[in-house]
This record gives sequence, structure tokens and C-alpha cells, in this order.
Amino acid sequence: MLEAATNLAVLTGAGVSEESGVPTFRGPGGLWRQFRPEQLATPQAFERDPLLVWEWYDWRRQKIAAVEPNPAHRALAELEKRTPEFALITQNVDDLHERAGSRRVYHLHGNIWLLHCMGCQWQERNREVPLSTLPPRCRHCGALMRPGVVWFGEPLPRKAWSAANEAAEAAHVFLVAGTSALVQPAASLPLIARDAGARLIEVNRDETPLSPLADVSLRGPAGEVLPQLL
Ligand code: OAD
Repeated sequence: MLEAATNLAVLTGAGVSEESGVPTFRGPGGLWRQFRPEQLATPQAFERDPLLVWEWYDWRRQKIAAVEPNPAHRALAELEKRTPEFALITQNVDDLHERAGSRRVYHLHGNIWLLHCMGCQWQERNREVPLSTLPPRCRHCGALMRPGVVWFGEPLPRKAWSAANEAAEAAHVFLVAGTSALVQPAASLPLIARDAGARLIEVNRDETPLSPLADVSLRGPAGEVLPQLL
């Protein structure tokens, strides 16, 4: 299926960065202190306790800064080189796909290295780890800065979402790797692709709601399965 496909779209989730050492959101290791991501990754949580939310993001930033891309990231970068039309759609806010060499990457849930000012809307790229001041303040207006990520209940970045939709509709094969396929609207992309005629391949350590719908479901660590597939 992959050999025949000249147009390939891939959707990744936290599972592809797990073998690099970045904690996933759900399942064992998904907890930070006693909190679930659903309790922290919301505008309401940030309003209530920006310091707590920032401490969690600062912890994740430190993890991401300290790790390297793994064979799953590298296999996807190689797949891009071999496929005429290729799009990598990711729910991950880390930059491990880019660091592995992927070029066309659509970040549906934003970028953990971006900071947005809640006051004057100033945006900046900031790779300081750990951040020297928590919560960070805008250098221009002094207002609170927030992480440049998408929280529950917020819309996805419009450009990335429409590019992801177009890629899903055009794909001959849609490959899903390392996502629980529970968070909408990202989880709808494989179904959009399938309705438009794509074959579905899933790579995951466990079964997901997508598994019964996939043409091929490969069970195992992405860092092993994706290089084998390649
Ligand atoms: P989850 O933590 O929900 O799911 C990770 C998935 O990867 C699970 O299905 C695991 O079985 C699988 N997995 C774990 N390790 C793996 C490995 N080494 N190889 C293959 N599969 C593995 O992460 P996401 O699906 O990415 O959003 O979560 C989606 C969104 O929910 C995230 O982007 C984040 C989160 O809340 C926001 O913060 C908005």
C-alpha cells in the first residue's frame, strides 16, 4: 500500500515521542504531580492558576529540550523523501519531527516554544529552559504570556487545520501513529481520509477506537514498527 501510494498523509500523537522520553498524556506516565492533562490544558485552569499551568509546561519544555528524535521520527522523515506528495500532521507540540528532518509538518495543537502575550498579542519564540521567570511576562506590555499551544475548548490554528483536511482528502494512504485517537477534531482526520477513499494504516502499542476501522493495524512501539515498515 505504501509503495503504491504517491500521496501519503500521516497523523502522529504523543506515542511517537514516547521512546524519546517525552511523557504521553494518557496512560501510565501521563500524570504530572496529581494532575491530568485535561485539568491543566484548559483556558479555565490558566485563569485560575497560571503559575501551576506554567510549571507543567516548563517541566514539559525541559523534557523536550533534553531529548532527541527517535527512529519513529527518522522513519517518517525518510518516508517524506520517498513520497511525491506528503504531509505530516501532528498533535505534538514538540519539534522532534523537524529535528529528525521532516519538512512539511502541520502542528494542529501549536508549538511549545512559542509564547503569546495575553495583553498586546505579541508572540515570541523562546527556548529558555527552565524559564527564568514563572509565569513569564510580556517584555512590551508586562501582561501574562501563555504557551503557544491549543487548549481544550479552543479552536485549532486555522491554516494548519485546513492544510490537514486537504491532505487527508487527497491521500491515497493515511498513516496514523502513536495517538489515542480520542481528541477531536484531530481524531476525525483518519475518517475524513477514509471517506475520501484512502486506505488506513495504524501503528500503536495498544488498541484504539480507530483500530477496527483500519485496513492494517500494526501493534507495537512506533520506534520499531515504523522503521520496519520503511
Ligand atoms: P495520548 O497520550 O492520548 O495517546 C498516546 C497514544 O500513543 C496511546 O494510544 C498509546 O497507546 C500510544 N503509544 C504510547 N507509546 C507508544 C509507542 N512507543 N509507540 C506507539 N504507540 C505508543 O496522546 P495523543 O493521542 O497525542 O492535546 O493525545 C492527543 C492530545 O491530547 C494531545 O495533543 C494533547 C492531549 O491533551 C492538547 O493538549 C490540546
